[in-house]
Amino acid sequence: MVQMKPMSSSSYSHLVDDIPSTPGKFKMMDKSPYSHHRLFKWHSSLTKLTFWSFLFLGLIFFFFLRSPPPPPHHSGADPSSSSSYPRRHLRNYSWGGPTWEKRVRSSARVRSRNGISVLVTGAAGFVGTHVSAALKRRGDGVLGLDNFNDYYDPSLKRARQALLERAGVFIVEGDINDDALLRKLFEVVAFTHVMHLAAQAGVRYAMENPSSYVHSNIAGLVSILEVCKSANPQPAIVWASSSSVYGLNTKVPFSEKDRTDQPASLYAATKKAGEEIAHTYNHIYGLSLTGLRFFTVYGPWGRPDMAYFFFTRDILRGKPISIFEAANHGTVARDFTYIDDIVRGCLSALDTAEKSTGSGGKKKGPAQLRVFNLGNTSPVPVTELVNILERLLKVKAKRHIMKLPRNGDVQFTHANISLAQRELGYKPTTDLQMGLKKFVRWYQRFYAGGKKSSV
Ligand SMILES: NC(=O)c1ccc[n+]([C@@H]2O[C@H](COP(=O)([O-])OP(=O)(O)OC[C@H]3O[C@@H](n4cnc5c(N)ncnc54)[C@H](O)[C@@H]3O)[C@@H](O)[C@H]2O)c1
Repeated sequence: MVQMKPMSSSSYSHLVDDIPSTPGKFKMMDKSPYSHHRLFKWHSSLTKLTFWSFLFLGLIFFFFLRSPPPPPHHSGADPSSSSSYPRRHLRNYSWGGPTWEKRVRSSARVRSRNGISVLVTGAAGFVGTHVSAALKRRGDGVLGLDNFNDYYDPSLKRARQALLERAGVFIVEGDINDDALLRKLFEVVAFTHVMHLAAQAGVRYAMENPSSYVHSNIAGLVSILEVCKSANPQPAIVWASSSSVYGLNTKVPFSEKDRTDQPASLYAATKKAGEEIAHTYNHIYGLSLTGLRFFTVYGPWGRPDMAYFFFTRDILRGKPISIFEAANHGTVARDFTYIDDIVRGCLSALDTAEKSTGSGGKKKGPAQLRVFNLGNTSPVPVTELVNILERLLKVKAKRHIMKLPRNGDVQFTHANISLAQRELGYKPTTDLQMGLKKFVRWYQRFYAGGKKSSV
């Protein structure tokens, strides 16, 4: 809190001096001692009035600047998140200048033979942080880009940023819709690859803030593809789609050949739209594009709006948790996929991506267009997830069984990963028991105040 210092009389006298006078009136009043006394009283009360008015206006201005925007009505999955109203519109981020460019160049510099230079969007996010750290570890050049929005607690994003900073990865603060910033980044660095992970995630939140999904997942994707198609050389792009594109599909396990035209949420619809947009840019401009359909990714540094994360928090706080069940007591299950497996899939997608064929906005020949499921192939009922958490936390959960609401969640997800296995050598190795053990260890360390865990 800023302390308001009382003003000395000399410091507010100039405020009085600034009041425009009416010539003539003062002259008349000057004549009698009585009027002089009245003038003095009037002048002093005017001084006081002006002082209080300025103080009052000053306070309004001060609180206006400090006040948070209206609350988000965030009744979604993360009720205790400290997030306030998400600011979706393009903010003024400061970027540019010789020091900034030097940081950009240094972060994106390749340090190993045959290394690649990757722009990672959404780098302060859960998957983005892990992918950026893994690329950096093997000597690739990595530059992050993130707008640090407050869909969930931004301090977690800041902690991830600090972690990447220590690893030598600079995250540029900006929006993927900022064309000028994107063009500048490609001017400074000739990226060979873009790992596009920035998006508005979450299924239920789409009912509260639909435009944020259009802004980041559709307009933002187009903005990224526009800069990539104009770049010379064009980079290859790997981007995050989602298992949610399978929507109401009931054929299991979900295969890339299955229908994806029945999305159950706006989030899913924007990811599906992304896949079609990717097709267009591949077709017209020769961009090499690989979409990855992630299946419920979890692990250390995860997302607070996801069930495994807020179940952990609420179980530890002794708060009841809501567990959904489908009609007729049907089981709700997810193909939970551990973050390290997802990271390996991402790196392999980058490594096997062929070059884009166009340059400077002109297609020169057909380019690669791929879509892969990255899942774990073994769906686990959410009730089992809670059983494991109870054992790991040594606390009994207060279970509150509820009907699965029809606001975007599907009853189950189950990945067929044979295509990724064949083409990417993708092979998940962490089961839910082991993965949650690692998550819980991180959670307890991170929220015990350390906040310096490693990836
Ligand atoms: N985690 C999962 O289970 C899962 C499942 C399927 C798909 N995905 C997809 O994977 C990607 C990464 O997901 P995550 O779990 O790491 O989510 P996340 O929310 O932790 O990360 C996304 C990051 O993108 C940033 N961002 C959002 N809009 C932006 C914009 N307009 N400009 C710049 N930055 C922006 C956010 O600040 C955030 O840090 C997303 O595209 C998501 O839709 C994730």
